[in-house]
Amino acid sequence: MNTVPQLDGRKVLVTGAGQGVGRGLALAFAGAGAHVLVNDLRAERSEQVVEEIRAAGGASSSVPFDVTDYGAVAGAVAEHGGVDILVNNAGNAGADGFGDRSRFADSDPADWDMFLRVNLYGVLHCTRAVLPSMIAGRWGRVLTIVSDAARTGDAGGAVYGAAKAGAAGLTRSLAIENGRFNITANNISLGTMRTPLTEPLWAEQADSPQAKAILQNYAIRRPGLPEDVTNLALLLGSDQGAWITGQTICVNGGYSFAL
Ligand SMILES: NC(=O)c1ccc[n+]([C@@H]2O[C@H](COP(=O)([O-])OP(=O)(O)OC[C@H]3O[C@@H](n4cnc5c(N)ncnc54)[C@H](O)[C@@H]3O)[C@@H](O)[C@H]2O)c1
Repeated sequence: MNTVPQLDGRKVLVTGAGQGVGRGLALAFAGAGAHVLVNDLRAERSEQVVEEIRAAGGASSSVPFDVTDYGAVAGAVAEHGGVDILVNNAGNAGADGFGDRSRFADSDPADWDMFLRVNLYGVLHCTRAVLPSMIAGRWGRVLTIVSDAARTGDAGGAVYGAAKAGAAGLTRSLAIENGRFNITANNISLGTMRTPLTEPLWAEQADSPQAKAILQNYAIRRPGLPEDVTNLALLLGSDQGAWITGQTICVNGGYSFAL
């Protein structure tokens, strides 16, 4: 019996894979034998990751598009003949990186769309585009990267959390509707990571009051790294994950309010 996820012959689309968690996932799926379609809004980032994968002997193509544009998403998926595994990773916590941490009562309704369009509509678009070929092929995996902001709430990140919670809810319905086709759908809920998105928090400021206050709620007192996420994603994306569906699994260093 083979217990190590083998993804030879599988095609995986990882959105927002030009850096951070998505890049880590793209490299890991390629290492397990999948052909990785590396998406990013910024073509120079996806091309760079494709080069890294190819240099390591893997198979990969760059598919730059904006997940908020359904026509672009559907066109890219059709051009590549569908995908077997979708990793909805593209996300934003603000217009520029970590973003404005204002409370909901002070938020401007004009700013809500930038969270909803990427973190919720982006997931709806990509999932809608890939499902028909998964159903036709009677096999598929949909992984959606959400956030503890969606599970526990996040003071200063209410709209982001609402968008991620919407994406997490979609996953549960997908699992119910598509299980009969051997399609699973799961969420991976992340705690605070060290990626380019949050780098300003950690770079030369790891001892800052803000960084210390964040880590106080983590049993394991460090931010997560992309490689903390990859083995779970490979399991959920493989045949070995066939009976795990509709779940939200935390990769969060034991994040808890109670600490
Ligand atoms: N970093 C954290 O602390 C943290 C915590 C919880 C959840 N998450 C989630 O994990 C995922 C990855 O986060 P990260 O820290 O690696 O992010 P990141 O900002 O470092 O990288 C995200 C990538 O997505 C791309 N992207 C943004 N909008 C896009 C769009 N519309 N279409 C296509 N690509 C787009 C960006 O260009 C970027 O390369 C996101 O969904 C994020 O919400 C992150």
